[in-house]
Amino acid sequence: MRGVLFRICCALAFLASGTALAQDPIVIVFSHVVAADTPKGKAAQYFAELASKLTKGAVKVEVYGNSTLYRDKDEMEALQLGAVQMLAPSLAKFSPLGIRDYEVFDLPYIFDSTEMLHRVTQGPLGKALLKKLEPKGIKGLAFWDNGFKSFSANRPLRTPDDFKGLKMRIQSSKVLEAQMRALGALPHAMIFSDVYQALQKGVVDGTENPHSNFYSQRMYEVQSHMTLSEHGYLGYAVITNKKFWDSLPTAIRNQLEEAMRLSTEYANKIAKEENDKALARIRETGKTEIHVPTAAERTALKRALIATHKEMAQRIGNETIQAIYSETGFDPSRL
Ligand code: LMR
Repeated sequence: MRGVLFRICCALAFLASGTALAQDPIVIVFSHVVAADTPKGKAAQYFAELASKLTKGAVKVEVYGNSTLYRDKDEMEALQLGAVQMLAPSLAKFSPLGIRDYEVFDLPYIFDSTEMLHRVTQGPLGKALLKKLEPKGIKGLAFWDNGFKSFSANRPLRTPDDFKGLKMRIQSSKVLEAQMRALGALPHAMIFSDVYQALQKGVVDGTENPHSNFYSQRMYEVQSHMTLSEHGYLGYAVITNKKFWDSLPTAIRNQLEEAMRLSTEYANKIAKEENDKALARIRETGKTEIHVPTAAERTALKRALIATHKEMAQRIGNETIQAIYSETGFDPSRL
């Protein structure tokens, strides 16, 4: 009898320890809209691997890319409701939250280089911008680069006149709307997952994006011309649901913050390489003619587009624009 009791106790103890060992990991669902083989797709995967490693398996990050879980109109709401825990929307997609400061990143030619941009995103201004998300129930974790955008269409785009009357797909941003109007084009806001079909069917004539998005969404199949205008920046803010983040055990949160710090370094290191690789691949397809603007063409484009800075100052907040000018040394009057 004693032997039986002993065996039952051992069995219960074993089961109990087994349950403790098999404790479910904390799951972070990370949703995004681009392909896996892009700067954002790769960085999200890198974060998932690091998060698992640094928390010794206590956190499992599940990455859903290419709009498979949420399309970019719905993902912000899903995050606020807690249906997903992490996103990295492009900075153009934050103004529906009522935070217009983020639109500053859409201003054409406001950043001369990635270095200038990093002075903002990796410095105190960037920190202050992330903090602005908190009243919306969102915790901003980091800024990740994609890169500078090129214009594309089914005709050469060399001078501002070439844009006249073209229906151009934009992300939903008032600044990008003003940018296209400044060129005499007709802006058409559309979610990312619809762009390829819209170009194919002629719903829109052209678009703008960094090369990694252009290549991975096969836009080269439906756009015969691209101009390496580098007229604007496209990057991301990595965000999480604040309530979820605050509810994490401190040790886990610290490990995830470290994983995010390392992933941000990685993201910003690979972004340019990935975009350069994508451009080479677009060239190899032979389907899109790539035009490098001459100095005179670049100046003409700049002159046409820079007016949007003044036009949008009231909307974005002149202080935010001026703060970026003084951080980067940009002087619009020197054009
Ligand atoms: C777009 O909608 O063009 C981009 O924001 C997609 C992305 O996330 O890079």
